[in-house]
Amino acid sequence: MEAELSPPPGGLQLASVAILDKALIAAADHAARYWTSADPGPLRPGTEAHTRAVAHMFRETFNPYKPTVIDWPHLDVEARERLISLPIWDIAVQTEGKARIRMLAYAHSLADPLWRESIELNGWEEGRHKMVLANLVAAYGITLEPEPPYPPPQNTEWAYLVTGFSECIDSFFAFGLFALAERSGFFPPELVETFEPVMQEECRHILLFANWLAWHRRTITWWRRPWFEVKVAAAWLFLGWERIGLARGMDDGQDGRGKPQDNNFTVTGSKAVTDGDVSIPDLLTLCLAENDRRFAGYDTRLRRPTTMPALARLALRFMGRKQPIPSGTAS
Ligand SMILES: [Fe+2]
Ligand SMILES: [Fe+2]
Repeated sequence: MEAELSPPPGGLQLASVAILDKALIAAADHAARYWTSADPGPLRPGTEAHTRAVAHMFRETFNPYKPTVIDWPHLDVEARERLISLPIWDIAVQTEGKARIRMLAYAHSLADPLWRESIELNGWEEGRHKMVLANLVAAYGITLEPEPPYPPPQNTEWAYLVTGFSECIDSFFAFGLFALAERSGFFPPELVETFEPVMQEECRHILLFANWLAWHRRTITWWRRPWFEVKVAAAWLFLGWERIGLARGMDDGQDGRGKPQDNNFTVTGSKAVTDGDVSIPDLLTLCLAENDRRFAGYDTRLRRPTTMPALARLALRFMGRKQPIPSGTAS
């Protein structure tokens, strides 16, 4: 775990003491959630206008919070126990560490300076998430397993694909679970509020990934495209397999010391953040609503991740649940 956070790439500024000012925090939070390109034309993936807009979006929605100045709120005994008993801390820290190195490795393999800069900043933000989590566990006395090394990936594109789709799956459910935790009052509002910028940052990350995917599909040579689609399908199969537990012990599924990691937190998570049982249709409906809410502030000409919302709507239809009305334009 790095003791100090290096500055973000691209000359972006980290706020330190000044970010403690409430008005500045509110302005940074607003800037991270709302962004529309000044370019009035269409933003078709593969065009220079689209690439430029995505790079501007990612840079201008950067939230300059500094993990070391986060003031972790006091928790009563029960809330602290609930937090400590969540089975996620080891995998959460390690996932951020892996995401960081994979994103940086892929960014550095790119020739296009705008995509390289955006994905590099994304990787840097994963390192910051890791530091936020490290500070959180230290503040509440949560003990972590020793961390494994994070070697750079051999196949940078595959590693980025798996990381990006993995974030699309995890963020979709995390949005709903986070809202559930907020509503249940299981954790004090100050703690939920403190963690909120990290959740919105994951929304930005999968927005960037969806637009990278669309750009990549348009710009790779026609003869590489079928193989790329095979890799996309393989990434989904791998992640689905991992999440139903069959892949435990392979790559991300186990920490190498025989301790199972909870890649299925969503299944048990709703019970962990609320005192009542939440039905699967209710949880999916909430995930969809939160997903729409978090993306609503970004330029509707940019692509959104669509697979998880589509799967959730399909599942709800099978369960006989009335479909929530989607907001914004997804593609
Ligand atoms: Fe992250
Ligand atoms: Fe992320």
